[in-house]
Amino acid sequence: MTNRVALLTGATGGVGRVVAETFAAHGYRLALAARHADAVEALADSLAVPTLALTADVTLPEAAAEVVQATKADFGRLDVVVHLVGGYAGGKALPEIEIETWERMLRLNLTSAFLIARAALPLMHEHDFGRLLFVSSLHGHAPGKHVAAYAAAKGGLETLVRAIAADTRGTGITANAVAPGIIDTPANRRAMPNADTSAWVAPERLAAVLLFLASEAAADINGAILPLRGRG
Ligand SMILES: NC(=O)c1ccc[n+]([C@@H]2O[C@H](COP(=O)([O-])OP(=O)(O)OC[C@H]3O[C@@H](n4cnc5c(N)ncnc54)[C@H](OP(=O)(O)O)[C@@H]3O)[C@@H](O)[C@H]2O)c1
Repeated sequence: MTNRVALLTGATGGVGRVVAETFAAHGYRLALAARHADAVEALADSLAVPTLALTADVTLPEAAAEVVQATKADFGRLDVVVHLVGGYAGGKALPEIEIETWERMLRLNLTSAFLIARAALPLMHEHDFGRLLFVSSLHGHAPGKHVAAYAAAKGGLETLVRAIAADTRGTGITANAVAPGIIDTPANRRAMPNADTSAWVAPERLAAVLLFLASEAAADINGAILPLRGRG
């Protein structure tokens, strides 16, 4: 058990909910952020730890900064960020990808991560402890077919993680990412009703990896991108 404070962005998503429950079960006080207030508040109310429900679009610089500042204002500190915000677009060969899709992928998966890290790092330096955790994808390192915009954005995220790790070397702050294959979320089950879900990544196991990376025991891991392939 811990009494550390974690900010989870994208907390109401298929992965975020399980991460929130896992961190709450280990004593974390939680700031939970997403754009839809009702969902964030319902999730916050369901957890048996002190929570703060935040409504924000973290692709916007001021909103990302406000989420981080609100966490510090409420709990007095910020120890861990799990940045779960991200989104997928695929199914088109590169000449068919609209500029809007390209820019949306970059904003959601890459710019949001930069903005949250930029806001959180100064607070973490105040007490020389911090864990910045991100969610890439197997496509970020080894793109499949027809996912160029998503893959480029997640590849950029992975480079950002390694760059933060270089910046924080020699401090108590680390930055790491997990890079999962298909995760067993309700949305994926709806989208692929005939798939063999036993090959997918269980969100509980993904959350357990993030929980470890957030811990003191993971102090020597900085700049890692951990592939979670599931059993496929
Ligand atoms: N699902 C998979 O199979 C899979 C595989 C590999 C990697 N990943 C990555 O894992 C992460 C989580 O995936 P997921 O399946 O849980 O996604 P999800 O179900 O779509 O959830 C996304 C979460 O982010 C929030 N969100 C979206 N845009 C936002 C914004 N601009 N500002 C603030 N919050 C925002 C959503 O809530 P609101 O709509 O209320 O804002 C929701 O809480 C993502 O980075 C994704 O790319 C997922």
